[in-house]
Amino acid sequence: MLVSAKEMLKKARAGHYAVGQFNINNLEWAKSILLTAQEMNSPVILGVSEGAGKYMCGYTTVVGMVNGMINELGITVPVALHLDHGSYEGAKKCIAAGFSSVMFDGSHYPIEENIAKTTELVGICNELGLSLEAEVGAIGGEEDGVVGGGEVADPDECKMIADLGVTMLAAGIGNIHGKYPENWAGLRFDVLEAISKKVGEDMPLVLHGGTGIPADMIKTAISLGVSKINVNTECQLSFAAATREYIEAGKDLQGKGFDPRKLLAPGCEAIKATVREKIELFGSANKA
Ligand code: 13P
Repeated sequence: MLVSAKEMLKKARAGHYAVGQFNINNLEWAKSILLTAQEMNSPVILGVSEGAGKYMCGYTTVVGMVNGMINELGITVPVALHLDHGSYEGAKKCIAAGFSSVMFDGSHYPIEENIAKTTELVGICNELGLSLEAEVGAIGGEEDGVVGGGEVADPDECKMIADLGVTMLAAGIGNIHGKYPENWAGLRFDVLEAISKKVGEDMPLVLHGGTGIPADMIKTAISLGVSKINVNTECQLSFAAATREYIEAGKDLQGKGFDPRKLLAPGCEAIKATVREKIELFGSANKA
């Protein structure tokens, strides 16, 4: 059964570790992530961008697939199915489809409008027992067509949004979706600390753009209140590299190596290795 992310993130915030949000793109992604979370006895959040939702034939298809996998694979660790960077309309669609968690990314609206729309969604999510993530200060880079300028969040605005009763808060602190450029200045821990102080110890903070952030920065971010870390690109890169290696070695031409179950297997193993590594780093193993 899918669960809201509320309990798992509350525990993570109090226990000084973070739960990974791993974005899914298809059956192979969802299966690899669920099996790894189960193997490591870790809570997990499956992220679905609006683009990936469309690709997977809509939100109801995603809900059906993930619920089916949880039953058929015997997954017992807590799993939240979460809309990533949702629009206001997208959030409502996911709620209707049976997601257990949604992100409303109102960071590109003026703060008053972000507050008004977030407030409405807080009411709906509370009534249904779902978790809601809000965002202040856009995450840099591009993810599935969602482009952010990389503004650093204003701690006072974070406090305003946190006080609306959201479950978790994503704040821009110099993080970027996708690979970090050579000249990246790193995370703004001064801002993260100020946000953490403003919103208080009970508010789980979310770090987007988890791909390529060095381990020491991840640890510092967790120590300052980050309880959820999103990873997307890194699984895509490891899947692509393993698939490339399989094909370049000509393995698809040997025997029945072209069978999709064989062709996609190295990529799935690569996703599992990435997820395993992140769960270790985030400290959520054996916290289910
Ligand atoms: P990366 O693709 O950089 O890992 O970011 C993922 C993310 O933040 C999803 O919202």
